[in-house]
Amino acid sequence: MYYVGVDIGGMSLKAGLVDERGVISASKAVPTRAKAPSEEIVSDLAGLVASLLESEGLTVKDIGGIGIGSPGSVNDAAGTVRYSCNINFRMTPIVAMLKEALGADRVAISNDANCAALGETLFGAGRGAKNSVTVTLGTGIGTGIVADGRLVTGNGSAGAEGGHMCIAYGGELCGCGKRGCYEAYASVSALIRQTERAMEAHPESLMHEIAKEEGVNGKTAFIAMKRGDKVAKEVVDTYIGYVGAGMVNFANIFWPEVFIVGGAISREGDTLILPLREYIAANIHSAAYNPPIEVVAATLGGDAGIVGAAALVMERPPRAKLH
Ligand code: BGC
Repeated sequence: MYYVGVDIGGMSLKAGLVDERGVISASKAVPTRAKAPSEEIVSDLAGLVASLLESEGLTVKDIGGIGIGSPGSVNDAAGTVRYSCNINFRMTPIVAMLKEALGADRVAISNDANCAALGETLFGAGRGAKNSVTVTLGTGIGTGIVADGRLVTGNGSAGAEGGHMCIAYGGELCGCGKRGCYEAYASVSALIRQTERAMEAHPESLMHEIAKEEGVNGKTAFIAMKRGDKVAKEVVDTYIGYVGAGMVNFANIFWPEVFIVGGAISREGDTLILPLREYIAANIHSAAYNPPIEVVAATLGGDAGIVGAAALVMERPPRAKLH
C-alpha cells in the first residue's frame, strides 16, 4: 500500500509517495507562496498531490491516505493549522479543504517537526530510542520530542515549539514577533542573516566570491570556511554554538538518548555534527555522571517530514504507535 506524505516548508511544498517501509518511490515539489491567501496555498497543495498521483498512474482511491506536516500550531484532532508565523495559515481547516479538493477520505495533519520526529523514530536515526529530540533547521526551527516512547505535543497539540524558546532575553526579533527565540539565532534564515552581516563588515572575505554564484544561502559560510576563510569560520562556529545552546536546554529537560538533526543543513554532516557533539558534551548538566547523549544527522535527511507525514495515515503495529 502507498501513502502520500506532504511537507509544507517555508520555501517549497513537497509531496512523496511512501510505502510501509518508509521508502519514497516518487516525489514532486513546487515553491511555497508563503504570503498568499491560505486558500491559494491549499489549492497549490491539492494540485501538487493530484499531479504526483497522476504521474504515477494512481488516484486517491488507490492509496491508504494523505498525511500532511505543517509548520505552526496544528490542532491535529481538528485537522486545522491555528497559526504559522512563516506561512499565512490562520485557523485554516487544511484537512477538510484537502478532502474536498481531492475527494479523499483519509487525510491527517500534524506539525512538520513532529512528522520529522515520527519519520526518524519509525524508519531512521531514532529507531530503537525511547527518548529522542529531533531538531529541524530550516526557514524556522522545529522540534519533535519523543519521551518514554511517546511524542510529546502538549495540550491540544500546541506545544513542542522549541524554535520559540527564548535563548536570549530581549534578543533578536523572531518572525513570530517575540524577541530572543532559538529560531532567530539558529535557523538557516538566521545563519543567512549572520553571514550577510559578516560579509558587510568584511569586504575581503571569500564569502563575497562564493555568493556571486548563487547568492547568500545556508552553505555560503560553510563553503568559504572549508576554503580557509577565517571570517566564515567565525560565522560557522558562532552559528553552531547557537544551535548547541538550544539543544543543551532540551538535553537538561528531556535527557534524550539521541538528538537527531534534520533539515537540508544536516547534509553538512560531520562539519556540523562533530562540533555540535563537542559543544553539547561540554555544556550539558553533570555530563560526567549522566548517561551519554548521542548527536546524529537525520538518516532520512530532508525527507523525514514527508515520510513522517505519510506515517500519520499508516496502519502501524501498536509498539510503533507514537501518535
Ligand atoms: C514553527 C514551528 C515549525 C518550525 C519549522 C517554526 O517557526 O513555529 O511550528 O515546526 O518553524 O518549520
